[in-house]
Amino acid sequence: MAKIIALANQKGGVGKTSTAVNLAAAFADLGKKVLLIDFDPQGNASTAFGVDKNQVGSSIYHLLSGRCSAEDCIVVPYPDYPHIIPATRDLSGAEIELVSEIGREFRLKEQMEGKAKDYDLILIDCPPSLGLLSLNAMVMADEIFVPMPCEFLALEGLSQLVDIVELTRRRLNPRLSIGGIIFTMFDNRSKLMRQVATEVEKYFVDKVFSTYIPRNIKVSESQSFGKPLVWYDKKTKGAIAYSKLAAEIADKRF
Ligand SMILES: Nc1ncnc2c1ncn2[C@@H]1O[C@H](COP(=O)(O)OP(=O)(O)O)[C@@H](O)[C@H]1O
Ligand SMILES: [Mg+2]
Repeated sequence: MAKIIALANQKGGVGKTSTAVNLAAAFADLGKKVLLIDFDPQGNASTAFGVDKNQVGSSIYHLLSGRCSAEDCIVVPYPDYPHIIPATRDLSGAEIELVSEIGREFRLKEQMEGKAKDYDLILIDCPPSLGLLSLNAMVMADEIFVPMPCEFLALEGLSQLVDIVELTRRRLNPRLSIGGIIFTMFDNRSKLMRQVATEVEKYFVDKVFSTYIPRNIKVSESQSFGKPLVWYDKKTKGAIAYSKLAAEIADKRF
């Protein structure tokens, strides 16, 4: 059965998508069968893999609303893995459409039933909110990874996120836990960043991954070329860090 990991943080711009796409590529390089579910209406993870959203037939929206099966919406943008379920703007409507449905938090999990056995790992790139979409991801996931830049403002939402994970664990998904905190866009020369990192490590102790992702403009650049950085330019420090992070995660879990 696949290990299911959701990248979540209700703040936007913290590195969820960059982490999801680079980990997906790095795990594929490690020989893992990876599925990446783009669960953000902005569809940035799909774009980062060069998926043309105008050409997408069935997407995660169609899957969630029961209009297609998982098989129908999986795309394979590069040879082999990762496989991707793309997202388009439609997905923003799903939240509203699902609100009145019974069992709405279980939609993604139910629609993916039977698929987990085909993969070693399923990554879910969550939207920047703690609404129904993120809740669906948390119901399906085994672990939540929280990407965060080491800024004081980034800490603000952290306790709320921890509370929601706890509530979801108690009420909807007893397997769920916070699997790890990933420091993104890190600049070792910044005293403030080092201080924030120390604070977070004091609180989360062994949950903070020891590989920090450095600030590296190539992370953004690669996305506009439709290729994750670990494939676009594997010698850059951002790519090396993401590959190292994948190895660190794999070491503990697979
Ligand atoms: N390590 C990094 N160094 C520099 N820029 C980064 C890094 N990680 C992400 N970015 C850029 O920051 C912006 C937000 O990142 P993104 O992964 O889209 O965050 P989120 O999915 O949380 O909104 C994007 O433009 C992305 O290219
Ligand atoms: Mg994103």
